[in-house]
Amino acid sequence: MTTAGEPCSHHAMTRKIDIQGHRGARALFPENTLEGFLAAAALGVEAFELDVAMTADGVVVLSHDPVLNPDIARDGAGVWLTRRGPAIHTLTHAALSAYDVGRIRPGSTLSVQFPEQAPNDGAHIPTLAQVLAALPHARFTIEVKTDPAHPDWTATPAALADATLSVVDAAGAVGRVIVESFDWRVQRHVRQTRSDIRLAWLTRAETVRDAALWWGDATGVGSVPGRVAAEGGPIWAPDHTDLTESHVREAHALGLLVLPWTVNQPADISRLIAWGVDGLITDRPDLALGLV
Ligand code: G3P
Ligand code: CA
Repeated sequence: MTTAGEPCSHHAMTRKIDIQGHRGARALFPENTLEGFLAAAALGVEAFELDVAMTADGVVVLSHDPVLNPDIARDGAGVWLTRRGPAIHTLTHAALSAYDVGRIRPGSTLSVQFPEQAPNDGAHIPTLAQVLAALPHARFTIEVKTDPAHPDWTATPAALADATLSVVDAAGAVGRVIVESFDWRVQRHVRQTRSDIRLAWLTRAETVRDAALWWGDATGVGSVPGRVAAEGGPIWAPDHTDLTESHVREAHALGLLVLPWTVNQPADISRLIAWGVDGLITDRPDLALGLV
């Protein structure tokens, strides 16, 4: 999976593993910030995963959380939020831009998880357009964050996917993006409306267990890569903690590319590479690039 749009290459003699920095390079720089993407790109990272949400006035922005996260957000006065919220889709872009997301809240669980993250005070939530423009050569796996259990938290899957792709089109970036979601209504909508967009199908234990909710499917789940292949692939993006070598083999036999997330430990990165994954999403793309 060298670039979005290139043919499947996992049987080639020399294999190139697509290392994608998760939310930029989350272990090193504030997540989903323009500053973080630029700093990671300066380290040689060429591909990134990011998450999108949409403001009340229709601006597509980068955020993992549909509501502002008190572990990363400070208000315009620099005061940490005391609880979750407000929801991004209730704020105008101007109002959202007041928040500072350049540092993890000291003392939070997240700060313990990412002790090496270098703060960048004053970093704001960027728009997708800004990020695509600032990194004209980078590839992006864009996760459209909708949740079938919480339709009130975001725009609809179709509306958020369409708004995202309008930004991608305006940036002339179709050839360097992949669209992914756990909520398969997103990919099904894109598959029907945009045959030019490369798709990845996210899975994790919860969405497989609750396939009726996440995939709109009350019948038996069967093989997960089999399901992704039946949807048309071409990429399966599983939680790496659920992945086995035989899954990778099965997915490849079905013609899929395998892009596990979020793989941060060197031993896990090396093991997955040995299993033949086509790429991986990691909070430590610097480390992963050193291992491939
Ligand atoms: O790209 C997949 C991965 O990012 C999914 O998990 O919760 O970090 O968005 P999450
Ligand atoms: Ca994500």
